[in-house]
Amino acid sequence: MRNGTCAGRIAWCITGAGHFLEDSLRSATSRDDVDFFLSRAAEEVVRMYRLGDLLAGRQVFRDTTASVPISGRFSGGRYRLLVVAPATSNSVAKFVLGLSDSLVSTLFAQAGKSGVPALVLPTDTVTETWSLTPSGNRVRIRPRAVDLENSRRLASFEGVTVVADPEELARWLARFL
Ligand SMILES: Cc1cc2nc3c(=O)[nH]c(=O)nc-3n(C[C@H](O)[C@H](O)[C@H](O)COP(=O)(O)O)c2cc1C
Repeated sequence: MRNGTCAGRIAWCITGAGHFLEDSLRSATSRDDVDFFLSRAAEEVVRMYRLGDLLAGRQVFRDTTASVPISGRFSGGRYRLLVVAPATSNSVAKFVLGLSDSLVSTLFAQAGKSGVPALVLPTDTVTETWSLTPSGNRVRIRPRAVDLENSRRLASFEGVTVVADPEELARWLARFL
């Protein structure tokens, strides 16, 4: 991936995942060069985890159109990096299949077609992990083989970097100061 010395903002997509959600949001909101794009599920899940305040006063785009005209910002050179963190198994599957039928999947596709690198933090990269429900209960998550395989396949895409946890995400982002 190119490093971040060039001009331009970061487009940060949030999908409907509870896993890694708070760390991802805190990482994103610690920067002032980020525009936010929320999937419809992300809007619900951010609310459930009561993290909406972190986005107060920020530029946030929601999934309200079918054709996603805002994706033209990628070919227009407005963004130097697309981040999808956290990325649900659903969104990762769409990326791998090349689907672009929603705000986030269309931004991912258009970033690729415009030569803008993508940094993705899937929720499903290890065979077993623990996560917190909105009410704070710890739950064991065992991603399916198809979820793990999709995360692996995404990592082989040109221009796409897949990271395993929020710490690795932060290390990559530090290059985009
Ligand atoms: C509280 C809550 C937490 C969720 N956490 C995850 C998660 O960590 N990973 C995941 O793949 N899906 C998770 N989901 C399910 C997704 O929100 C759902 O599959 C949704 O369709 C994903 O849509 P999107 O990829 O467009 O955001 C969660 C759902 C809820 C209600």
